[in-house]
Amino acid sequence: MLTLVTGVTGQVGRRFVPRLLAQRRPGERVRVLVRDEARGERFAELGAEVVLGDLRDTETLGKAVAGVDAVVNVAAAFRGVPDEEAWAVNRDAAVELGRAALASGVRRFVQVSTGLVYGLGRGRPLTEEDEIRPGGAMWGAYGESKAAAERELLALDGLDVRVARLPFVYGEGDPHLAQSLMWAANWAAAQRLQMGHHADVAQGLLRILHAPGIAGRIYNIADDAPVTAVELHQLNGVEVPAALYDRTDPDPWFVITSTDRIRRELGYRPLYPSVYAARDAGAL
Ligand SMILES: NC(=O)c1ccc[n+]([C@@H]2O[C@H](COP(=O)([O-])OP(=O)(O)OC[C@H]3O[C@@H](n4cnc5c(N)ncnc54)[C@H](OP(=O)(O)O)[C@@H]3O)[C@@H](O)[C@H]2O)c1
Repeated sequence: MLTLVTGVTGQVGRRFVPRLLAQRRPGERVRVLVRDEARGERFAELGAEVVLGDLRDTETLGKAVAGVDAVVNVAAAFRGVPDEEAWAVNRDAAVELGRAALASGVRRFVQVSTGLVYGLGRGRPLTEEDEIRPGGAMWGAYGESKAAAERELLALDGLDVRVARLPFVYGEGDPHLAQSLMWAANWAAAQRLQMGHHADVAQGLLRILHAPGIAGRIYNIADDAPVTAVELHQLNGVEVPAALYDRTDPDPWFVITSTDRIRRELGYRPLYPSVYAARDAGAL
């Protein structure tokens, strides 16, 4: 079995691949797609095959999927990129990768997505059955392009597509937790962020990748304890601005997701049920 992983130089991918490699059984191999040869060396040293190229290049896709049994598409463009690039990578290249996978006989395709695709909250934790409701402060090219990719990939006849919707991912030295203040500084005090530690995102992705009989299924991945804007300041050792207490949360259930499905169907249990558990374990 050969598994291709994209986006391995990013925050999620670079922490997922070593775990995928560590859990390999005899005969299982891992291939990674990177854009920069030097950044692929680390993965070669860990035992992965390295393919060089950009996801938007169809020749690259053909090379990347040749002989592959499963794909985990982690790559995305969303950190400060123009909208055109977000659409080109998150939707167009993802769907092309799905088509290339189908054409080359790939058996499983895990699409890494985001809880932002839900759009507006529903007054309760969001479940995978919920329709997308566009809107909210963070709705834009990123969420829309990821939602479109999910839809188009799931519609590819003959490809076993599984979708993983991630929360705000943190831990293991990822600067993301500190970066959360870019938004949280402008939130209401009690406004919440749904979290997930890298170890648990990797756990969820591995379960989704390996489970038989879940073609077409979508799974939320998250921990059990969303944290408030006040706690995000505290966790970062930053004084809570008084203005937070003057604001009202426009949507208290915005991207708060249920993990019932992945717990019940795939046995997922967060190793770090809260950011505090991760902090106490020295895993931030
Ligand atoms: N981090 C989170 O909190 C979070 C939350 C929800 C969902 N997600 C999802 O999780 C996935 C990974 O996120 P991340 O935080 O790890 O993102 P990231 O750190 O920005 O990494 C993005 C990865 O995608 C690769 N990539 C971008 N454009 C590419 C292209 N044209 N061709 C080939 N590779 C390309 C990047 O390669 P280079 O290094 O070469 O740029 C990098 O490896 C994404 O699908 C994202 O939507 C993340």
